[in-house]
Amino acid sequence: MPDQLLEIAPLPAATRESERTGAAERRAAYPFRFPRDRRKIGGKHTVEENARRLMRFFYFERRLAQGIGSWTLAIPDFEVKIETGRHLFWHADAAKRFRERLTEQEKRLETIDAFRDAEIDGFFDELLSAADTPELLVGVHQVLGRALETAYRHHIDITCPVTDAPTIRTLRQVLLDYEPMLAWAEDALEAYVEGGVDESRLEGWRWHLTRLLASIGGVTGADERAQRPARLRSEAKPYERGEVPLRDSRFATFTTTGDYNLADGKLRFEEGSYDDQRLRFVRTQRDEVDAIEAFGTFLWDIRFKDFDAEYFLARITWDEARHTEIGHKTMLTIGYDPFELPNRLTSSTCRGPMEPEYAMAEINLFGEIGVLKTIGSLIEEARRRDDSLVAHISDFIRADERTHVRKGQHILKVMTDMGMPELELRTRELFTECLVTLGALPKGASFGTLTREEIERYIGE
Ligand SMILES: [Fe+2]
Ligand SMILES: [Fe+2]
Repeated sequence: MPDQLLEIAPLPAATRESERTGAAERRAAYPFRFPRDRRKIGGKHTVEENARRLMRFFYFERRLAQGIGSWTLAIPDFEVKIETGRHLFWHADAAKRFRERLTEQEKRLETIDAFRDAEIDGFFDELLSAADTPELLVGVHQVLGRALETAYRHHIDITCPVTDAPTIRTLRQVLLDYEPMLAWAEDALEAYVEGGVDESRLEGWRWHLTRLLASIGGVTGADERAQRPARLRSEAKPYERGEVPLRDSRFATFTTTGDYNLADGKLRFEEGSYDDQRLRFVRTQRDEVDAIEAFGTFLWDIRFKDFDAEYFLARITWDEARHTEIGHKTMLTIGYDPFELPNRLTSSTCRGPMEPEYAMAEINLFGEIGVLKTIGSLIEEARRRDDSLVAHISDFIRADERTHVRKGQHILKVMTDMGMPELELRTRELFTECLVTLGALPKGASFGTLTREEIERYIGE
C-alpha cells in the first residue's frame, strides 16, 4: 500500500440527478460483469522524483555491468565465470530498460548517458576492490544486489499503479532476472564457505560495504545517511582490473601454441579428418571462456563512451558464456570429462593487457570472422554424417557469430578512429610480438609480422 497518498483538493462536482439515474439504469441493464480494476490512483512520486530515482537505478545497473566486466579475467572458477558473464548482461539490460523509461519521464538520452555520481563511483571503487571472487560476489549480490532488489520492490509499492504503470512493469521485468541471480549467488557463496573460504572474512567485507552504501543514502540516496567507514581499500590503492586470465585448479592449460594437436603432443585423430575438426570445434567453444574475458574486459575499458556499444558488449559476453556452456556440455555428451581436455589460454593471455581496440580487432575481425569461414562446411558435414548434436550446436553458434560480427562494427567505431588497414596492421604486429614472447611460433623460424591467416592459425580461433 502507498504510505503517503497525494492530497486531492475537494473540488465541487456539477453532477445532475437525471443523468446519474440514467447512468445507474443503463449500468444495471448491462449484462457483463468484467473483472474490477482494484488499483488505486495515488502514489508517492512526482515525475521529477520518479526520474531522479530511476536515474540512480540506471546508473547502478550500468556500473554493475561495467564493473563485473572488469573482473572477468580475474575470476578463476569456471562456473562463476560463466554465471558472471550472464549476470553482466542482466545488469546491462536492466540499465537499458531504465534508460528507456527515463526518456518517457522527461529526460533526454544525452542527459541520461552523461549522468555520473561521485558517491556511487566511490562505492563501486570499493566494491570492485574485493580481494577475491567470493568477496566480489558478496559485494555484487549480497550487498548491492539485495539493496537494489529491495529498492525496486519498494518503488513498485509506493509509486502510482495507474499513472506510473510503465515503471512498475519495467521494475517487475528487471526483478525476474534478480530472483534466480541472487539465489544462485547465495548457493555459490555457501559452496565457497563449505570449500574452506573463511566466512568471517566475507561477513566483515559485507558489513563494510553495507555501511559504505548506507553512508551515501542507500540505493535511492534518500535514506538517512550513516557514518562512512573510516578506511577504504580503494583509497589506499585505486582499483585496477586484472590483466591475467585465471583458471581454477581443475584445468590443465597451455599458452605456447594455439593448436590443440600441437598442445596435445600425440594426435587424437588423423589431422584434418572430420573427427579432428569436430573435436577442435567443440574444444574451441568450451575455450571461449576466454571470449567472456575479452568482451567483458572491453566493456570496462570503453566504459561511458557509448551506451549501445556497452550494451552490445554485454550481450556478446552472455553469448560467449553460452558458447562456453555449449562446449562443456557437448564434451560430456560425446564422451569426455571436460577437464581432461587442456584449456587454450594463448589468445586471452595476449589480449589481457592490450588496448581494447587491438584486442577487439583480433577477436572480432580475425576470430569471429575466422569461425564463419569454416563453420558452414562443418554444419554441412555434420548433417551429412547425421552427427545431429554438432549440427545442432554449430547451427546456433553460426547465427550468434554472424550477429557478433555485425555488432562488432559499431563497437570498433566507438573504440577507435583508425582506418581498417592501419588497425589490422597494428593488431597483427602486437599479436606477432605476443606470440613470439609466449614461444607460440615454431622454433628457430624468424618472423616478420604475421598475416591474419597465420594469426588465426597460431592463436587458434
Ligand atoms: Fe563464440
Ligand atoms: Fe562470438
